[in-house]
Amino acid sequence: MYKVLKKEKLVPTITKLKIVAPLIAEKTKPGNFIILRVDEKGERVPLTIADYDREEGSITIIFQEVGYSTKKLGKLEVGDCLQDLVGPLGHHIDMEDCKKVVLLGGGTGTALLYPKVKGFYEQGAEVISITGVRTKNLIILEDELNEYSDKLYIATDDGSYGIHGFVTEILKDVLKDEKDIDLVVAIGPVPMMKAVADMTEEYGIETIVSLNAIMVDGTGMCGACRVTVGGETKFTCFDGPSFDAHQVDFEELMNRLNFYQNEEEDVAKANSA
Ligand code: FES
Repeated sequence: MYKVLKKEKLVPTITKLKIVAPLIAEKTKPGNFIILRVDEKGERVPLTIADYDREEGSITIIFQEVGYSTKKLGKLEVGDCLQDLVGPLGHHIDMEDCKKVVLLGGGTGTALLYPKVKGFYEQGAEVISITGVRTKNLIILEDELNEYSDKLYIATDDGSYGIHGFVTEILKDVLKDEKDIDLVVAIGPVPMMKAVADMTEEYGIETIVSLNAIMVDGTGMCGACRVTVGGETKFTCFDGPSFDAHQVDFEELMNRLNFYQNEEEDVAKANSA
């Protein structure tokens, strides 16, 4: 069970794995995530389901190798198995009644964006995708996004490919030029999602962000992933991970994400020693 069917390095630090998981594939919708453990002693890692194939009984995950667990995950090869896999978790995004949608992904947020781009496109919506990375060799899923987008804008911070600048600058122009946008979806670093929320609020456009809170159990029991939305405490794993961007307390989320930074650096040092 949970055998790796296919492995692909999208860029040196971002890996795509296709995993056998028929029961999860059967129930997955865009926006759902899974929690996995690489081995018996491994920590629980939440990851968005980037794609799924119900006929094949497989799901695809895309992750950046940034910490101890994701580096270990990146060492799995075709034929290796995960210790366990739970999902699909979280609420999927409701895609009906949406005729025109703008989707933005920053950095590895693009991997999380892709299932939503595909989902909206397959529902018949007009899809405008905006993706941004630091430099050309970090671009991922360009062909896939192209296939499922009516318009695709790619930005690089250093101008080495596509438009020189940030996704938020492109969004600014899109909001000015395009009419009748029903929804904006933003996934990426918290400051980027906050900037998008501020911009779309001016236009009164409904906006959804997918939050990357720290998760432990993923079932709404431990409270580790709590965020404040509309003045109420919500659990990202259970109530989200997608929320109304205009209601999210981004400052609190940023503080909580930085809470264990020192400990994470200590673990990273210890593991590299
Ligand atoms: Fe524990 Fe969400 S991860 S409540």
